[in-house]
Amino acid sequence: MLPHPVVSGAPREQWSSRAGFVLAAVGSAVGLGNMWRFPYLTAEHGGAAFVILYVGVTLAVGLPVLLAELAIGRGAQQSPVRALVHYGGRRWRPLGLVFVAAGFLILSYYSVIAGWALRYTGIALAGGFDAGIAERFAEISEGWDAFGFHLAIMAMTVGIVAGGVRAGIERTALVLMPTLFVLVCGLAVYAATLEGGAPGYEYYLSTDFGDLWSRDVLTQAAGQTFFSLSLGMGAMLTYGSYLGRDNHLPNEALLIAGADLAVAVIAGLVVFPLIFALGLAGAVGESTVGALFITLPQAFAGMGGVGRAVGAVFFAVLVVAALTSAISLLEVVVASAMDGLGWTRRRAALGLGGAIALLGVPPAFHIGVLDLMDKLANNVLLLGGGLALAVFAGWVMADPVAEVRVGAGGVRWFFLWRTLLRFAVPALLLFVLADAVPKTLTAVAAFF
Ligand code: TRP
Repeated sequence: MLPHPVVSGAPREQWSSRAGFVLAAVGSAVGLGNMWRFPYLTAEHGGAAFVILYVGVTLAVGLPVLLAELAIGRGAQQSPVRALVHYGGRRWRPLGLVFVAAGFLILSYYSVIAGWALRYTGIALAGGFDAGIAERFAEISEGWDAFGFHLAIMAMTVGIVAGGVRAGIERTALVLMPTLFVLVCGLAVYAATLEGGAPGYEYYLSTDFGDLWSRDVLTQAAGQTFFSLSLGMGAMLTYGSYLGRDNHLPNEALLIAGADLAVAVIAGLVVFPLIFALGLAGAVGESTVGALFITLPQAFAGMGGVGRAVGAVFFAVLVVAALTSAISLLEVVVASAMDGLGWTRRRAALGLGGAIALLGVPPAFHIGVLDLMDKLANNVLLLGGGLALAVFAGWVMADPVAEVRVGAGGVRWFFLWRTLLRFAVPALLLFVLADAVPKTLTAVAAFF
């Protein structure tokens, strides 16, 4: 074991309220993944049938791992590296370090995408989108523009995280998350009033079970669950480490997963009617994040003056969703430096946030690199991290159920949770990884 750092002796920070914690965790979960990838996957793979599969995968795999992360974090009262060592011994230190590295990697490109959204909010406010948005996107998605807006997002993220758990992260979530929820619902209601939007709902949710029985769809559903719930790299673990002993963790996990799913489903109710009302249905079949930044603005462009306002609200929502997720990614890195190296929060936030900003150079200047980093994170790091966490909580920890019982009392189905972690989660993740890892490595090789 490392000698315990002789830090300030200040007690560990804690959330000030249950609502503060839940909103911060929902803020981490709700992000770019909800606003585009979920609606897109759903529309592509069988509509409502995919939603059912997704809910199934979330219940069987996502929720157990989420609960495990919260329980490990709260039990150890430490950031990921030390929490794993606390329960599993020094052998588990490398896994914690992989988590920190994943935080570096994901944030460095995630913030570039958030930067595009920030830029688009400005464009919408300044006069709206026009027909040339595809060329415009090509210009601003790579190069100095992209890098500059990435820096702006990183500066905000660093500022919030440097403020601390309560004054920074929790306060931001308390203001931004309810706002975001109201705005997304408002957009969905507005979209429902559009003439010609009805086929959009049909495209989104028309049920086709035939599409479901492929390994690829399962892989995508599992990857989406992990990404959307911020699992597999210690983000929820870190947020859990600021909890006291009276939270009912299974209830918190259900609430977080439920809110995340709700926003994802509603986002689809915004996106597709808009696109179909403007007759742009043909332009949807594009899987990259670029579609969000081309097809949808085309819809806004076709809406005249209203499009300006609706577009500004939509992209502002995207920025807010991304920002509260970025915070959780940076917090993993910052908390690890504070706990492990004895750094102050300010120093860790500024120094490591700065390093991540620099790591954003490759994805900001080359969209192909961004795409590759996303694949690597999604298909390898998060799923692999989730597998390792399930094995850790299921097989290595002496009594994981005891940690969950704190604040929750004896619930009979806890044994089911452990059984899922031991068998079902690893089995499903191995099945999925065996498919996803070679594919991702081929994509990496093809790039070079
Ligand atoms: N969940 C966020 C989204 O849906 C992204 C995110 C934030 C994340 N923190 C994470 C993903 C940690 C994986 C791990 O956009």
